[in-house]
Amino acid sequence: MPLTLQNNSLYFEQASLDAIANQFGTPAYVYSRAALTSAYQDYANALGEWPGTICYAVKANSNIGVLNVLARLGAGFDIVSVGELERVLRAGGQPSKMVFSGVGKTASEMARALEVGVGCFNVESANELETLSQVAGSQNKVASISIRVNPDVDAKTHPYISTGLKENKFGIDINDAVAVYQRASSLPGLRIVGVDCHIGSQLTETQPFIDALDRVLQLVDKLADKGITIHHLDLGGGLGVTYDQEVPPAVSDYISAIKAKLGDRKLALMFEPGRSIAANAGVLLTRVEYLKPTEHKNFAIVDAAMNDLIRPALYQAWQGIVPVNPRDADSQVWDIVGPVCETGDFLGKDRELAIEQGDLLAIKSSGAYGFTMSSNYNSRPRACELMVDGDAVHVIRKRETIDDLVALEAILPASE
Ligand code: LLP
Repeated sequence: MPLTLQNNSLYFEQASLDAIANQFGTPAYVYSRAALTSAYQDYANALGEWPGTICYAVKANSNIGVLNVLARLGAGFDIVSVGELERVLRAGGQPSKMVFSGVGKTASEMARALEVGVGCFNVESANELETLSQVAGSQNKVASISIRVNPDVDAKTHPYISTGLKENKFGIDINDAVAVYQRASSLPGLRIVGVDCHIGSQLTETQPFIDALDRVLQLVDKLADKGITIHHLDLGGGLGVTYDQEVPPAVSDYISAIKAKLGDRKLALMFEPGRSIAANAGVLLTRVEYLKPTEHKNFAIVDAAMNDLIRPALYQAWQGIVPVNPRDADSQVWDIVGPVCETGDFLGKDRELAIEQGDLLAIKSSGAYGFTMSSNYNSRPRACELMVDGDAVHVIRKRETIDDLVALEAILPASE
């Protein structure tokens, strides 16, 4: 993380988080352009001359300011809805470098994706193939496809974010894949270009990826026997980050291991990293409203809540919480909780901190699956999003207002 302590106050790049909170208010998401850039470049450099594309998974953080930083670096994008597609276009991303994933693409989403020239559809079911071929035919186009296979490997991650097991809804059982590819090759609107797989998120070991790759390569060979040539492998996203003590593999080691496994095979490589690009490029800034020590627990009630950052409530996820202006005082153990009316509304439990009312806290590793999973629950306007670039701070999403909250709503007409 680009967080440093300067004169006993936290800075994000060269911008003071204290000054940011005073100028823009809290809660506020703050991202670092330098951190996004270096995380993307780790992938691009690791891929090196090997043909392929790094397709940033837009779901992790879809602010157009973030997407634009990555588009300027030449990134591709992994999208899962027409909403994400339009965001990438507005951010200046290239349609030909987009891959369209997701189990429930609608015919109208497919039509729009074909119209703009999305690079590849990652098809997730046999029935989706039929629909896509028809939609492409109606536009006199041919859709390039990969089929997402489910290799049945255990990603050893939280069950909610594990996707490559037989019991998960994603992809096609790898044992049925040859038949589905044969069907695809007979459909007029489709061109087979790749094989896709994504086994889960926040993986901290390389082995499950390699196990999945082994199975995918066996499939590529079986397809070759049937006369179906695969040009690229899309190995999905999923590389973990350090939230606490985790030590995920370095991007360069991970990609080197994949390249070593491929050897002389002429297969381009696609990756769909989300978390490992954005998580540690962002913090959520929040202010302590009230300290509420009780007989059982000490609660620090802050102005951010589960509606702003749902990961702790939803996955019992642990994210670091640090004071922006550390105090030289005795610490106590606090639960950091929000104002939302739910017992599950916590951002961190049992954190040892020296804090007073009015203090600022930074919740680390909040750049991925933070704002994108936020909501207006309890009619809380969503936080602003800011991008630090050196010592400059740019507003990339204004704080929502009460008018924004009700802008799309209406009351019934007056009755007699
Ligand atoms: N590709 C596909 C098809 C995916 O489903 C995902 C994430 C990614 C790529 C990006 O994976 P990443 O590199 O970010 O691990 N909300 C959860 C994470 C859900 C991930 C869903 N799919 C969290 O906050 O932990």
